[in-house]
Amino acid sequence: MALLLLPLARILSPSKSNLIHYLGLSHHLLALNFIIVSFGKKSAWSSTQVKVTDTDFDGVEVRVFEGPPKPEEPLKRSVVYIHGGGWALASAKIRYYDELCTAMAEELNAVIVSIEYRLVPTVYFPAQIHDVVRATKYFLQPEVLHKYSVDPGRIGISGDSAGGNLAAALGQQFNQDDHLKNKLKVQALIYPVLQALDFNTPSYQQNMNTPILPRYVMVKYWVDYFKGNYDFVQAMIVNNHTSLDVEEAAALRARLNWTSLLPASITKNYKPVVQTTGNARIVQEIPQLLDARSAPLIAEQEVLQHLPKTYILTCEHDVLRDDGIMYAKRLESAGVEVTLDHFEDGFHGCMIFTSWPTNFSVGIRTRNSYIKWLDQNL
Ligand SMILES: *[C@@H]1O[C@H](CO)[C@@H](O)[C@H](O)[C@H]1NC(C)=O
Ligand SMILES: *[C@@H]1O[C@H](CO)[C@@H](O)[C@H](O)[C@H]1NC(C)=O
Ligand SMILES: *[C@@H]1O[C@H](CO)[C@@H](O)[C@H](O)[C@H]1NC(C)=O
Repeated sequence: MALLLLPLARILSPSKSNLIHYLGLSHHLLALNFIIVSFGKKSAWSSTQVKVTDTDFDGVEVRVFEGPPKPEEPLKRSVVYIHGGGWALASAKIRYYDELCTAMAEELNAVIVSIEYRLVPTVYFPAQIHDVVRATKYFLQPEVLHKYSVDPGRIGISGDSAGGNLAAALGQQFNQDDHLKNKLKVQALIYPVLQALDFNTPSYQQNMNTPILPRYVMVKYWVDYFKGNYDFVQAMIVNNHTSLDVEEAAALRARLNWTSLLPASITKNYKPVVQTTGNARIVQEIPQLLDARSAPLIAEQEVLQHLPKTYILTCEHDVLRDDGIMYAKRLESAGVEVTLDHFEDGFHGCMIFTSWPTNFSVGIRTRNSYIKWLDQNL
């Protein structure tokens, strides 16, 4: 989430001085989220083209965007969208996500369900996954699809950043459930977070200090997601949690072995950071670090092979670039049809910055490319 790009003057305006008090008292993520959400939340407002409704699906809040009716196509395509923000920040209702989903509904003539899942520190892993699974399962019921005039054969799942992580986890979970298998036609993952075992992939090394998402911030999001201890952050940054003497990680390391998964144009001269001895206490205290539901990249090959057609968008200036490229490679090896859409001038979070004053050219290009892929494949 691009906190640095929020208009600071508005955050610090005198009328919001109670914020300072709030900042001093609460969990830092609650405070950050208060800032993001209170300055950007949009009420459900329907344009002439797109009907927007706030409702709940089996107890999980959702914002539904319905594209304009088309007489020649009575049933619509649909995308379940999961917003980003480190499992802790943002909302389906902030301007950025509201605009993205409105554009998708309009340009794809689709129904977009944007899930308002609960966040850290209200809930922790795996509650976020439970929320998105629950809302999606509810939506997939024949009578609900009928209500929204959705074609049951043309539904996709998508999300950006931590939302891409949840979308990937959901895709894998549905795949293993016979009732839900083959219900999703596509998955589209935008600069997804996919693993917490190696914080020294070439992209983590290259972008460790890149603004918006420096490496230590990403590691802290992980620790927060698991309600873990910040004392481990420095050790995790040097991969002490997955050192060679940590037996639990041994079998998993091969599944994100970037010396074989990434092309030479990406690995360049970067060297793997593999510690001989590290700190076995970290994964003992936070076993969720090695759980494929949090790290979809480390799922077994059998779980990957029946996943739907996949789109993965990656950005050069992003610690998460290689998470996405490695997942694309693993999916392809498992026989899944994958489109990897890489942006040389992209940065983490860029796809939501499409309107003034944060209308970046690469924001507009990534969004257009993403929507075009959905249009051709959903
Ligand atoms: C990583 O683990 C080694 C071996 O236990 C230890 O010497 C080193 O200080 C640790 N590094 C960090 C940053 O915690
Ligand atoms: C990673 O891949 C390289 C190159 O194929 C190989 O030499 C190495 O043993 C692999 N490491 C692991 C942990 O699988
Ligand atoms: C952003 O919007 C402003 C105002 O509409 C426009 O002048 C500018 O060219 C836009 N920038 C990009 C990169 O599209």
